[in-house]
Amino acid sequence: MNDTMTLSQRADALEQKMSDELDYIVIKSRLYSMADADMSPAPNAAALMAKNPRARVLMGDDPRLPAMPKQPTLIDFFKYRFGPAAHLLQSARHAVRGGLPEKMVLACLLHDISTIGFIRGDHGYWGAQLVEPYVDEEVTWAIRAHQVLRFYPDESVGYEYPASYVKTFGADYQPDEYVAEDYKRMKSHKWYMSGRMITVHDIYSFDPDVRVELEEFTDVIGRNFRQPREGLGFDNSPVAHMWRAMIRPAKYL
Ligand SMILES: [Fe+2]
Ligand SMILES: [Fe+2]
Repeated sequence: MNDTMTLSQRADALEQKMSDELDYIVIKSRLYSMADADMSPAPNAAALMAKNPRARVLMGDDPRLPAMPKQPTLIDFFKYRFGPAAHLLQSARHAVRGGLPEKMVLACLLHDISTIGFIRGDHGYWGAQLVEPYVDEEVTWAIRAHQVLRFYPDESVGYEYPASYVKTFGADYQPDEYVAEDYKRMKSHKWYMSGRMITVHDIYSFDPDVRVELEEFTDVIGRNFRQPREGLGFDNSPVAHMWRAMIRPAKYL
């Protein structure tokens, strides 16, 4: 590869090299390409296959990712897709110590699954949608709300606008209009305090040496998350395809 290639050209060249050597071709969803500011048309599968007749596009499991069981549980997603989940585990433990009811401990454990496993922007909305068929309605509501309420202080529970937001978004950052509108609706909702509690236990300054294991919450999950028998992604729920997207994020069609 020469030095005049752009980052995205290098990535493409690498992918091409991989495709030549392997018997599969990875073609990214548009969302990933746009995240790289790449508005070019999708790679031509037929042209790539012509160069390597053995190759096929990915329609099954992605061999580059950890294999998942056929009927994956929430715990399997934590293990094989969500990656290190220290922030969620520590938030959940913090919630236990703060005396929150069990279902709200689950809400704290799940509040950022979209950030660590799916899509970052609007992660509270995505995360709430992912778990909606499997948890108490209040848990879904609170996960959605935490994303909005994080931007607004509440002195009554000692919650301040996060210092980390000033740093990462700039001191003059204002939440989007739809967030401000949602805040107006949420602050007078009967479950406001449940959403607020996620923000209170949403801890960012934790001891990196403290380890919390997922096993600490096996029972909380067991009692409060209705794990579908068929596995997440295969239960014919309205969000099953979203879980499948995490199982096979590069599936061609
Ligand atoms: Fe969050
Ligand atoms: Fe969080």
